[in-house]
Amino acid sequence: MLKTKKRIVIANWKMNPQTADDAWSLFSGIKKTASKLRFVHTIICPPATYLLDLSDSYRGKNISFGAQNIFWKEKGSFTGEISARQIHDAGARFVLVGHSERRALGETNENVWLKVKAALKERLHVILCIGESERDESGDYLHFLREQLESALNGVKAADLNRTIIAYEPIWAIGKTGEDAITPDKLHEMVLFIRRVLVERYNKTAIDTPIIYGGSVEKENAQGLLERGVVAGFLVGHASLDATEFSSILKIANETKAL
Ligand code: 13P
Repeated sequence: MLKTKKRIVIANWKMNPQTADDAWSLFSGIKKTASKLRFVHTIICPPATYLLDLSDSYRGKNISFGAQNIFWKEKGSFTGEISARQIHDAGARFVLVGHSERRALGETNENVWLKVKAALKERLHVILCIGESERDESGDYLHFLREQLESALNGVKAADLNRTIIAYEPIWAIGKTGEDAITPDKLHEMVLFIRRVLVERYNKTAIDTPIIYGGSVEKENAQGLLERGVVAGFLVGHASLDATEFSSILKIANETKAL
């Protein structure tokens, strides 16, 4: 089960860096800080080609590894796909499911649901990504988010919710600068909304489900988003590709006590 008292900071390297040497140096830089922090669980999600080497190189408890995607079938003729078992065997204990960049390439709510089920069956932890592309006055984006959440968790048992992290990543805030991220107050509203949807379905079990935020998290906005946004941690994109910047975010998370 996840230790919810620790902050969860996830590095999503996306399709970076371009060589194993560069991946190795980036990880070495991050490891210096991440391995020492008592109150942060760091999860590195590199491209699948680097997963085995990186995960093999680290034996401690403070850092884990995750994949950026899986396919829902267990095995067979699915050229180019990677199964939950295969990424587990390569050292991943976590997997991102439903990232907006994958949804933009055609992944549907049904595909996301199948991936959630496949990951949980393999005893992986799921990082379920949800997020609206834009906000409208009438609040339709809330229905959209509810639908993303409810469809992905359809049939998921309360016991398996313990291995699920919800990553709220509004698409309009991804890949910009810290100033374009959501404000802490707006983030807090979204956390309350997501928690309500979870509690409606899972009652008390959902009280501890970690809800994290992604979308232009940088060292400048990290503290405010954690403290006033009241999230359990972050899913970090571009700032996780710079070991110094990412280490600063990790240190801020370590010093900002989880509730
Ligand atoms: P940025 O931190 O680059 O905005 O990316 C967020 C993201 O998509 C992480 O999954």
